[in-house]
Amino acid sequence: MSMPLFPTTRLRRLRASATLRDLVRETELNVRDLIYPLFIAEGMNVQQEIGAMPGQFRWSVDRLPRIVEKIVAAKIPAVLLFGVLEPASKDELGSASWHDNGVVQQAIRTIKRLAPELVVITDVCLCEYTSHGHCGVVRDGRVLNDATLELLARQAVSHARAGADIVAPSDMMDGRVAAIRTALDREGFTDTPILAYAAKFASGFYGPFREAAASAPQFGDRRGYQMDPANAREALREIELDIAEGADLVMVKPALAYLDVIARARARFDVPLVAYNVSGEYSMVKAAAANGWIDEQRIVMEILTAIKRAGADVIITYHALDVAKAMSQ
Ligand code: PBG
Repeated sequence: MSMPLFPTTRLRRLRASATLRDLVRETELNVRDLIYPLFIAEGMNVQQEIGAMPGQFRWSVDRLPRIVEKIVAAKIPAVLLFGVLEPASKDELGSASWHDNGVVQQAIRTIKRLAPELVVITDVCLCEYTSHGHCGVVRDGRVLNDATLELLARQAVSHARAGADIVAPSDMMDGRVAAIRTALDREGFTDTPILAYAAKFASGFYGPFREAAASAPQFGDRRGYQMDPANAREALREIELDIAEGADLVMVKPALAYLDVIARARARFDVPLVAYNVSGEYSMVKAAAANGWIDEQRIVMEILTAIKRAGADVIITYHALDVAKAMSQ
């Protein structure tokens, strides 16, 4: 395509006023496309700020009305739940993750009672529940793939039984989407969608989350199951396989250092695409803002707009409440 050159073409013509700029804007951020993560702690009366994530808290179930009220008022449509356990509640297999009265199961029931319209998504993984902190069953220092699948399926079914609207496996075992789909269908949850953390990279950007969820591996790292940050083509294979196994939505995680992966996934697949603006991305912005080095609101809008522009339909972000407030002003 050829276009006439200067002076016939002047791209500044359409930048001349705010109204004109609004008119031709290509990407619009919308609160309806945001998911807000919540950390659910054991015990009562817990509302504990997470050191590395200023403005984010661990909540006990009895305190949830405070935050759920804010989320609903902000018109944020969905939350993503993570369980945070005391060391004494963890074991080798992460069995607390599929108890009917586990923290996440209680939180699901409480939130659905407080706000039936709010979409409740649950992170399905073992690392928040295992004593060794890995996302699967460990034997002889190795994280076993196939033995893990049944436990993940059990956890997903227990979330669905408690009323979860969507289950989101984040462990990166091979075959977990199919295993979870089969188990959900067998138990009658044929209409519960699966959001697959399909292309999840072994990232340093999860550091603050591991403090928040006390889920750091006690030995080794997650490079044997999460993806090598260098691989984009492999990310497309991961996504393709998860869709083939029955994923209803797929995710790229983290977001900011992986915008190329988001763009390539968007071009290739037609399922809804979710991007996770992870803890480290949040903490970096908060730290720089606290030092007065950046304009936080402006930078957050720019980051989230970039994630959408790259091709994400939905963004999971700890900034969701702040963004909703900024956009309603
Ligand atoms: C659990 C899980 C992690 C995150 C989401 N689910 C941590 C990890 O894989 O170590 C990270 C989220 C964030 O950093 O905000 N497997």
